[in-house]
Amino acid sequence: MLPEFFEFYNPTKVVYEAGVATDLKPELDLIGITKYFIVSDHIINDLGLVQKVADGLVDAGFEVTGKYLDVAQDARLKDVKKCADIVKASGAEGIISIGGGSVIDTAKAVNILFSVGGDLVDDYSGAHTLTKPLNPHVVIPTTAGTGSEVTMIAVIYDEENKEKLAFPDKFLLPNLAVLDPEMTISLPPKMTAATGMDALTHAVEAYVGPQASPISDAFAVGAIELIMKNLVTATRTGDDVDARGSMLIASTMAGISFTHSMCGCIHGMAHATGGLYRVPHGIANGIFLPFGLEYNFEEIKEKLARLAPVMGEDTSGLSEDEAARLAIAAIRKLSKQLNELGALPIRLRDVGVPEDGLVAIAEGAINDGTSFYNPREMDEEELLPYIQNAY
Ligand SMILES: [Fe+2]
Repeated sequence: MLPEFFEFYNPTKVVYEAGVATDLKPELDLIGITKYFIVSDHIINDLGLVQKVADGLVDAGFEVTGKYLDVAQDARLKDVKKCADIVKASGAEGIISIGGGSVIDTAKAVNILFSVGGDLVDDYSGAHTLTKPLNPHVVIPTTAGTGSEVTMIAVIYDEENKEKLAFPDKFLLPNLAVLDPEMTISLPPKMTAATGMDALTHAVEAYVGPQASPISDAFAVGAIELIMKNLVTATRTGDDVDARGSMLIASTMAGISFTHSMCGCIHGMAHATGGLYRVPHGIANGIFLPFGLEYNFEEIKEKLARLAPVMGEDTSGLSEDEAARLAIAAIRKLSKQLNELGALPIRLRDVGVPEDGLVAIAEGAINDGTSFYNPREMDEEELLPYIQNAY
């Protein structure tokens, strides 16, 4: 059935090529500015990736006005303000972010303060508060998971109130997403698996969500197929450029799907678990994915059944119910393979969540913004058993 209304807005240019991150001149010439500030983190910097990109920029005649490398595991409110002041003082005209979701989201929020000023929480809470385009933002992802290079949202962690704040705004869509598999080769197996499960969760939640359209579906299905075929290889054999490239492309496609169709209770539970117990986003999503699909089962089984063959399962002769359950089983099979590689925890008890903390996760998930986009109405008491099953 077609939705009565949907819109599709995807202005971010995407370029894919092994090695392109060090040869950005043709793309940056089109953007038209010459002074860039780099936002990244110490892990990426220590791997030499920041220097590689910076050298490429300088060799091509661009100016790197400065670097901010203190972004933590989560994009933190305090970094946004600090970094924005440094970017402004540096005389930059635009930002290049090199990293995973936290780096990219920090750079998006920094770009708000850098371009139009003000206080992030006081002036930009809520959705679509910006009224004009920001300064150019080029994103070079070093993980294949967040999809933030093509999404209109920045998720920032408020350390004082232990909660994640979401800033959705179409002006946060980056100008350019640079997909270079050489930038993800050094990602360790655990990060590869966890971020890959985040991408899978984006695509699956976008596909079964009530806001889905035929266009977001196309991106979601394409992403799911690539992830099911490549995530184990990318995790096991990190220098497989083909698997790495496929995961990067899948992550971007999943990002395009969920920035249009949104995510539901699986992300809600992951946000709560991340905020309360510091469980990394991709790991939490990987744990909750099958259980969240079970919570939504009656509402989504028709679409889930269609996903089973996309995931490589043979559904001939199966009922809709059986095919839908096979799709969930395929996800569990993938998680188990990644778990056996030592790359992915699959239980809440294994990631430091206390058993008496499960009610707080249910409460947090209900209060999360994703609640509005979940296929089944969110009910704390009804959700809790699924969280207990994930324990
Ligand atoms: Fe996510």
